Amino acid sequence: MSAETAAGKPRTSRQLDPCLDQLPHLFVSPALFNKFQKLIYSETGIWLGNSKTALLCGRLFRRLRTLGISSLESYYECVAQPHQHEERAQMIDAITTNETRFFREPRQFEFMVQRVFPHWQGDAEQGLRPKRVRVWSAGCSSGEEPYTVAMLLARHLPAQEGWDVRLLATDISNRVLEKARKGVYPIAKAAELPSDLLHSFMLRGMGERDGEMKVKVEIQEMIDFQRLNLDQEMNLVESPFDAIFCRNVLIYFDAASKSRVLARLSHHLIVNGLLFVGHAENLSSMSSQLQSLEPTIYTRTGDKEIL
Ligand SMILES: C[S@@+](CC[C@H](N)C(=O)[O-])C[C@H]1O[C@@H](n2cnc3c(N)ncnc32)[C@H](O)[C@@H]1O
Repeated sequence: MSAETAAGKPRTSRQLDPCLDQLPHLFVSPALFNKFQKLIYSETGIWLGNSKTALLCGRLFRRLRTLGISSLESYYECVAQPHQHEERAQMIDAITTNETRFFREPRQFEFMVQRVFPHWQGDAEQGLRPKRVRVWSAGCSSGEEPYTVAMLLARHLPAQEGWDVRLLATDISNRVLEKARKGVYPIAKAAELPSDLLHSFMLRGMGERDGEMKVKVEIQEMIDFQRLNLDQEMNLVESPFDAIFCRNVLIYFDAASKSRVLARLSHHLIVNGLLFVGHAENLSSMSSQLQSLEPTIYTRTGDKEIL
């Protein structure tokens, strides 16, 4: 006996892919999936591989329910209309993977503290650079990454010693940016931070805020959070940057969008500036302007001394 769809019609498994067992009424045909692939790619540079049908259905299910739309076909007809900018932003919010944590990939932060900050300090003392640092967290998700960098900068290059430090933190998802701007996290995340930074830069929630912690205003004020699509032209006021963190973002892109984004990131780095990527991201042979210093740490090439 063949399985039946919610509408009672026999399911032809070659044409219709039942996305999730618990959502028996959401189906996506290969042709419809391909339309979503192209739409998401043109909006974000993210390429959903052919095996991601369950991910598409699972992540859009709640949005369809909110809108009272019962099929992905009808949703596509709505979201693909040129004027539906807001709905496309909602779709991107649902589709993006936003996993992050404080001090993720700690070796890179050790590199900052042990090699980069002393180098910048030495150069500033010799008058070879101003006491000015600009850092960009590109694909910042809910803020743990830029707050980690801001805490380290506040500790090692403090304003009291004349350092002018600012961070730009950007993401394509409004949902995560809203969380990032608030800087409020479950207290369980305290375990991700070294205790000296935790005690210096986090406030523990009391009363109805019990179970939460909040980033101190002095750290929040160092960061400008903005919505920005890395796969579109951009005009960044703070550019060029001394360091860019673009970690665990490029893995979702295909070769063409990755190379476009890398060209933009390099363009916004100073010569000898640093690019940090995620542990699964190897940029070798992807950009002639970037040279590997260590796995996952690159520098923009130039004629001056490298770290
Ligand atoms: C897995 S998170 C990584 C967060 C953080 N960088 C880290 O490593 O912990 C990837 C982030 O990239 C963002 N992203 C994906 N495509 C993007 C694009 N085209 N422009 C800007 N941000 C994008 C997602 O919204 C998501 O928040």
